Amino acid sequence: QMNADLIVVGSGFFGLTIAERAANELGLKVLVVDRRDHIGGNAYSEADPETGIEVHRYGAHLFHTSVESVWQYVNRFTSFTNYQHKVYTNHKGVVYPLPINLGTINQFFGAAYGPDEARALIASQAGEFNVSDARNLEEKGIALIGRPLYEAFIRDYTAKQWQTDPTELPAEVISRLPVRYTYDNRYFNDTYEGLPVKGYTNWLENMADHPNIEVKLGVDFFDESQPINKKAVVGQVPIVYTGAIDRYFDYAEGELSWRTLDFEREVLPIGDFQGTSVMNYADRDVPYTRIHEFRHFHPERREYPTDKTIIMREFSRFATREDEPYYPVNTPGDRDGLLAYRGLQDGEKNVFFGGRLGTYKYLDMHMAIGSALSMFRNKLSPLFGGPEGDG
Ligand code: FAD
Ligand code: NA
Repeated sequence: QMNADLIVVGSGFFGLTIAERAANELGLKVLVVDRRDHIGGNAYSEADPETGIEVHRYGAHLFHTSVESVWQYVNRFTSFTNYQHKVYTNHKGVVYPLPINLGTINQFFGAAYGPDEARALIASQAGEFNVSDARNLEEKGIALIGRPLYEAFIRDYTAKQWQTDPTELPAEVISRLPVRYTYDNRYFNDTYEGLPVKGYTNWLENMADHPNIEVKLGVDFFDESQPINKKAVVGQVPIVYTGAIDRYFDYAEGELSWRTLDFEREVLPIGDFQGTSVMNYADRDVPYTRIHEFRHFHPERREYPTDKTIIMREFSRFATREDEPYYPVNTPGDRDGLLAYRGLQDGEKNVFFGGRLGTYKYLDMHMAIGSALSMFRNKLSPLFGGPEGDG
């Protein structure tokens, strides 16, 4: 009845990397199921019907990595543009570069400090609290960068992201607040960065393009009314599961908490709305955290219209069970729950938990791909009699 050597639940980067390796390296027949009506998980993108501009449906995705093996691997499926990500923020109607750098500092204080002067100023302002004494996020933020910069660029933005006043957020939510004492405002520091020339969905489809890989969309792994479901297949065939770990165990150890995002798209009758791809809104009186303008991710695409643009406002809030889970909240209760689920997971023979939802960890794309490559090498390949370990 079931014509597959391996079932992969979830067609995001983790699941597709496993499927591609299993088919190409071991010659296995792989069945990938996803409950959504498209492949690719959260990295999925689509052409906006009105403008033709590529929109990242689940939020802007920037590819970057310093891991050579991951870079080699992803280049089998797509080539990359030379896009370099930069972010700006609007505070009280003035636009500043991020992450906080010498340009931000000089613009904010109306000064022309050199690196050492700026460092001394921030150190004196940060003296109000010691990092080790900070009892909440606000005190830690002030201890790290001083009150003026914290209040302008961190306080309200963080409150909007968490729907919680920073004085009520644990200090651990931020480990550091990078300040650069140069004018470099490249967002990422990685060796490799770029966007897929033909878009994310083309890249993801290329990964799944193999005669041994079958992708079934619109299939929820917990829906017992269809043939491929947890009850029917666990124990019959090895499974790589990239859905939510608490859902797999029917929330037996409680629900893990997530933040989600709401997106509002708008097509505007102008060629360029904000002159850049991402503009943050630092202040509390603006309800959204940022605006994406997708045309700026691909300045090289001559086919984009010059009289229309598409923007997307992003709003942040806590997720309910019905929402898309985006960022793990990671409360102490969540950490206990995760440990309990990891214990249960050990009892599931030949079910391998991976990816963002399966491990309850925020993973960048290159991390999801990298951890799938190592799960393949270290667990799946030996299970099927293939080579093990690095090399
Ligand atoms: P996902 O992409 O979430 O895929 C999991 C798949 O499993 C989904 O398709 C889901 O439908 C499916 N699934 C779940 N439950 C079931 C079920 N019961 N039955 C069947 N199918 C199921 N990374 C970067 O590197 N750069 C960025 O700029 C970046 N920006 C991001 C912005 C946002 C808002 C978010 C949320 C993430 C961002 N990421 C970014 C991270 C990136 O999205 C992840 O690294 C990547 O999606 C992880 O892939 P995955 O396969 O683990 O999970
Ligand atoms: Na300090």
